[in-house]
Amino acid sequence: MSSTRCLAKQATGLSRRLLQAPSRPLSTSAVLRATTPPSSENPSTESPKKKLKPLTQEQRDFLSSALRVNQAGELAATLIYSSQTPVITRKHPHLRPLMAHMYDQEAAHLTTFNDLIHKHRVRPTALYPLWSVLASGLGWSTAVMGREAAMACTEAVETEIGSHYNEQIRSILEMIAQWEAQGYDVSGEVKQLVDTLRRIRDEELEHLDHAVENDAKKAEPHWLLTNVIRAGCRGAIWVSERV
Ligand SMILES: [Fe+2]
Ligand SMILES: [Fe+2]
Repeated sequence: MSSTRCLAKQATGLSRRLLQAPSRPLSTSAVLRATTPPSSENPSTESPKKKLKPLTQEQRDFLSSALRVNQAGELAATLIYSSQTPVITRKHPHLRPLMAHMYDQEAAHLTTFNDLIHKHRVRPTALYPLWSVLASGLGWSTAVMGREAAMACTEAVETEIGSHYNEQIRSILEMIAQWEAQGYDVSGEVKQLVDTLRRIRDEELEHLDHAVENDAKKAEPHWLLTNVIRAGCRGAIWVSERV
């Protein structure tokens, strides 16, 4: 088994359990696609299949902003790791497989959201250049502070991102529950989106576990570093959802 796979398997799963979204049955709707009324409103219909419900403007706006902020966040994550890696692995070569593993997963997340915003014609955040500079600066500066500070950065970022993905999953599941209660079906696209968000959320929490296992808590001063970075993440998420 490769070293990166070993690292992935070693994730404790503690943070995953703490932040796991409630499990609910999945079901209907296209992410940004029009649909038709439920069969109960068409008693003469020959097909027993349930119908999909059109998204409201509010639901469209929510899904668009979710894809936009996720894409911006994954771009930032790749830049943080690519800025940290050369500095950290020069002094700590044993961390090379771990840094490569986390970077590879972030790059795959970015590809996923690039594809989704392109498919659904969602505009990227206008602050893309600003987030790029800030993320690279955050990665480089925490790496210069040392291995523990770099890991504390990952701990802080992934704590916020894990919660952020959980909130999105919860909102979409609530949307699905409403459609089902009204007798509508759920499209494969929405089911797939929930599965994608859950998978990516789990991988982010795996990164959080890796950071804690690699002495993130020993960063000095841990509370200040993590709280400043977490506040920055929350601010960036709030702005990217709107701009
Ligand atoms: Fe990610
Ligand atoms: Fe991550």
